[in-house]
Amino acid sequence: MSTYLQELARRRTFGIIAHPDAGKTTLTEKLLLFGGAIQTAGAVKSNKIKKSTVSDFMEIERQRGISVSTSVMGFEYRDLQINILDTPGHEDFAEDTYRTLTAVDSAIVVIDVANGVEKQTEKLTKVCRMRKTPIIFFVNKLDREGKDALDLLDELEQKLDVKVCPLSWPIGMGQRFKGVYNMYEKKLVLFNPHGKQEDEEIIIFEDLNNPELERHIGEGPARELRHEVEMVSAVYPVFEQQDYLDGKICPVFFGSAVNNFGVKELLDCFVEIAPTPLARDSEEREIKPTEEKMTGFVFKIFANMDPRHRDRIAFLRICSGRFERNKPYRHIRLERDMRFPNPTMFMASKKTLLDEAYPGDVVGLYDSGNFKIGDTLTEGEILHFKGLPAFSPEQFRYVENADPLKQKQFAKGLDQLMDEGVAQMFTRQTDGRRIIGTVGQLQFEVIQHRLESEYNSKCRYEPVSLFKACWITSEDPKAIAEFLDRRKRDVAKDKDGNWVFLAETAWTLQTVQENFPKIAFHFTSEKI
Ligand code: G4P
Repeated sequence: MSTYLQELARRRTFGIIAHPDAGKTTLTEKLLLFGGAIQTAGAVKSNKIKKSTVSDFMEIERQRGISVSTSVMGFEYRDLQINILDTPGHEDFAEDTYRTLTAVDSAIVVIDVANGVEKQTEKLTKVCRMRKTPIIFFVNKLDREGKDALDLLDELEQKLDVKVCPLSWPIGMGQRFKGVYNMYEKKLVLFNPHGKQEDEEIIIFEDLNNPELERHIGEGPARELRHEVEMVSAVYPVFEQQDYLDGKICPVFFGSAVNNFGVKELLDCFVEIAPTPLARDSEEREIKPTEEKMTGFVFKIFANMDPRHRDRIAFLRICSGRFERNKPYRHIRLERDMRFPNPTMFMASKKTLLDEAYPGDVVGLYDSGNFKIGDTLTEGEILHFKGLPAFSPEQFRYVENADPLKQKQFAKGLDQLMDEGVAQMFTRQTDGRRIIGTVGQLQFEVIQHRLESEYNSKCRYEPVSLFKACWITSEDPKAIAEFLDRRKRDVAKDKDGNWVFLAETAWTLQTVQENFPKIAFHFTSEKI
């Protein structure tokens, strides 16, 4: 095998998703500890924002600071290069998470055993399902009382519309938690509530009917475990890796991240079954990771934290070929070649300059305003990667320049923040007023704060009563022209010049859809 194919086969790029507080940060940290990427617990800071509206700008800045350094956490484990892409759990940043999910090849979903499926779990898993991303579930906090394991699996299947396949099974929970039986490797893993991972007792246990089981976990739990494993084996399908890779079944593990219990089982199975970098669709054709020419797309942009420098970091997911430092690549949207003298790789909290990167890797490119989310770099071929849609926002406000002397800064600031994907902006056609649309309240504060601190300009919001913004298209140009004429007051253009219908109420949207059958209304910019 060539070195290139060997490097490709070594990559595992995934995201950990969870509802806030389920234990994503804790699990990430334990995984990094195994990989030796960090030495001490507490090194990965939680980037969650606890309150739903934050007026404390320090909190926003703190969040951004942490997010840059934890955007991609790379480490080596069993000779594999593992890349964990961070996904914000806070729902106001959901769009950022959706976009990050376009750059992963698989996902681990953390579930709190007491809370089961929560709102963000549902939303994010849906995005994975739409994209057929292979999912592994990690049911966390077994050291606490929670839902019955069988009920929980039912809940996963029903609420998330997935098929599950437990690969480990818990023995009790809370005070009575004794460990798990690893059905995948036929091992009994015993929990020592006061121990460290090294103390985790692992016993090869092929046959649960072996009377030794009583000696290890006691009579009652042994009976229960035998009964449950028998039932589970009858109800759930036998694990087939291909079914997992096709997104048809989702393996489930149980453990306790904070106690570092069950995490190694998860990681060892993950590295065995998780996909190597997958092919990606572009508008023109499918791009296979084995192709030798470099292609990649930008899925995330971070503004520099230092207001004296306008630099930003654009995160490029490599889809094919070898990325090399200083080699010219084609920026497709700008139609020009660019070189990158300082591409960066994030290894846990450390940044390193890199000379080359492979499919599955994420490269940080210093950018002075050339990149937008969704931009493509290639060796010349014109390609546009799919799957980076803007979602129909749910909250709207007019945004006005509050300082007439700073009009230029205001316009530039807004423009760049929109390129970063902080929110979406629509320009109403009748009066030219700008409307900001977001998925969460927090973005309005982020925009106002960042305009002031980074662009030295002030904005003012005014209320606008809107229910939804949706993109409109039609195969019949006359139908569009007629629509634009008749609904003049309700149309706007997005930043890329696409037509958008601004519906004041759910009722208006419905009526308009009925009255204009030749117009298609889309709830993502990708016009699915
Ligand atoms: P998140 O990133 O998904 O939001 O969750 P995070 O890891 O920050 O965990 C949320 C809380 O749950 C933390 O407690 C963490 O210690 C706790 N936790 C994580 N895994 C387990 C587990 O297996 N068992 C139990 N009992 N708790 C767990 P916290 O009080 O919010 O923070 P901290 O003071 O412990 O850091």
